[in-house]
Amino acid sequence: MSNLTNKTVVVTGGNSGIGYAAAKEMTAKGAKVFITGRNKEAVAQAASELGVTGIVSDQGDLKAIDSLVAEVKAQADGVDVLFINAGVALFSPVEQADEAHFDGIMDVNFKGAYFTLSKFIPILNEGASVIFLSSSSATSGMATSSVYSASKAAMNSLVRVASSELAPKRIRVNSVSPGPIDTPIFGKAGLDDATRDGFATAIVNRVPLKRFGAAEEVAKLVSFLASDDAAFVTGADYVVDGGVGVNAVFS
Ligand SMILES: NC(=O)c1ccc[n+]([C@@H]2O[C@H](COP(=O)([O-])OP(=O)(O)OC[C@H]3O[C@@H](n4cnc5c(N)ncnc54)[C@H](OP(=O)(O)O)[C@@H]3O)[C@@H](O)[C@H]2O)c1
Repeated sequence: MSNLTNKTVVVTGGNSGIGYAAAKEMTAKGAKVFITGRNKEAVAQAASELGVTGIVSDQGDLKAIDSLVAEVKAQADGVDVLFINAGVALFSPVEQADEAHFDGIMDVNFKGAYFTLSKFIPILNEGASVIFLSSSSATSGMATSSVYSASKAAMNSLVRVASSELAPKRIRVNSVSPGPIDTPIFGKAGLDDATRDGFATAIVNRVPLKRFGAAEEVAKLVSFLASDDAAFVTGADYVVDGGVGVNAVFS
């Protein structure tokens, strides 16, 4: 199905994981896609594999966001789909969290996501779709995830306000909240192998469907929200978590 034909799509953090899968899915549906990331080689490689345009841009740097908007504006006739996906996952108990931990997450996941939306608004086409990549962590209380979870909860709040501010231009704003998805993100969290394996086993035991989700399964939901099939959906958070949110006492 080619329901994104002629749409211009920007995916932040599109060189890996969910962003990569979403860029692939939306390209297959006919969109002209731009991806971003910080790592120059990874962006170039992903862009060439996907047949999309890669732009190196750090979501945690407001000047870099200005340059990204200018570059996209120069190469496209406005933006129809903005997928604000780039994010980092780092963990610390509240007592041990320092300012660098706090800022390192918030600068990318919330401040960067916020200003990506803010600075792209002037080049969003009427009827555009904005999708934020949030997390089931926004509404749960997993130990050591305080800053990460708060960054995503703040994002959910932004989604509701922005959906109401942008409705007059028929711009829809939604979020997708995955549970555990099999991507490289956990390998970047600075955990040793044993801790990471223990973490993965504990997580799978809590998922009613007893597995990690695949990035492609999130990408299909993103692609739906990006399309005109979701024309009456705005201000919503869509959970894709294998049932974690059910929070069953026993099953
Ligand atoms: N995997 C999960 O279980 C899960 C669950 C819920 C929510 N999420 C969210 O899903 C999103 C994507 O994560 P993922 O799991 O697909 O992880 P991933 O494979 O590590 O992908 C993260 C992407 O974000 C980019 N990125 C990170 N910091 C950036 C920055 N400052 N500026 C620009 N790009 C940046 C990375 O590229 P560079 O390294 O090149 O910068 C990469 O392309 C994140 O927002 C994450 O919080 C993931």
